[in-house]
Amino acid sequence: MTTNIKDIAKTIGKLTGGFAPQIVLILGSGFGGYCDRVKAERTLSFSEIESFPRTSVAGHKGKLVFARHMGQDIAIMAGRVHYYEGFKMQDVVLPIRALRLLGARNLIVTNAAGGINEDFDKGDIMLIEDHISLFCPNPLIGKNYDEFGVRFPDMSRAYDRELGEVAKDCAKKIGLSLKRGIYCYLTGPSYETPADIRALMALGADCVGMSTVPEVICARHAGMRVCGFSYISNKGAGLSQEELSHEDVVAAFAGISDKFYALLDMLIERISDEKK
Ligand code: HPA
Repeated sequence: MTTNIKDIAKTIGKLTGGFAPQIVLILGSGFGGYCDRVKAERTLSFSEIESFPRTSVAGHKGKLVFARHMGQDIAIMAGRVHYYEGFKMQDVVLPIRALRLLGARNLIVTNAAGGINEDFDKGDIMLIEDHISLFCPNPLIGKNYDEFGVRFPDMSRAYDRELGEVAKDCAKKIGLSLKRGIYCYLTGPSYETPADIRALMALGADCVGMSTVPEVICARHAGMRVCGFSYISNKGAGLSQEELSHEDVVAAFAGISDKFYALLDMLIERISDEKK
């Protein structure tokens, strides 16, 4: 598998003329509009890259955009693959590992999530301060790849405090009210029951979703710094009268504030690699 990752990194390197991103930005379902702000140097669809996992989820485009943006070399994953699509966990995190091999040291993750914290409303953005992944398989199960990191990586600061502070400062400057909290990862693809939501509430989760955590664990294993945001696309099951559907989750992004994209711009601009 390591050979596979190396080959994929090599293929991407060739297709992009040796582009070395410092920052990876994963755009979850509905955030694709951010790509319009970026002048791509090279765009690859996932299907162009041999052995790269291909997403099948409506609303996820599945492309890799390489760009110089806000003074930084970035790779945007517009779309991601999920464990619930039937991929092995190792394949879910493969893009992160390949981009790490190409030089990326920072990861910004975004996702849609159901709000559990009763102070959260549909349309809120939450800075992810920590996550719960007790119920899901770990992407590092199997042989350890020592070239990326240690067998038992620490997760006590999965989300970088300094980047979190920068994000909060950016939000303040932009006038975006940023919630903060804990993201709980469940595999999906079914949404939760109201009893699940009450249980997660008791565990201290502020929102729930079906992505992100595998990539974050893998990025931390490989020594990358992580900053993450959840878009509260709906209230968790049972917390409102509405039934949940993917179409409604995607539709909720029509209300996403341009301010969030401005925040991403400013955060990208302010990420510095001095502290590694
Ligand atoms: N639950 C799980 N994943 C989600 C939700 C939800 O309510 N909303 C968006 N992604």
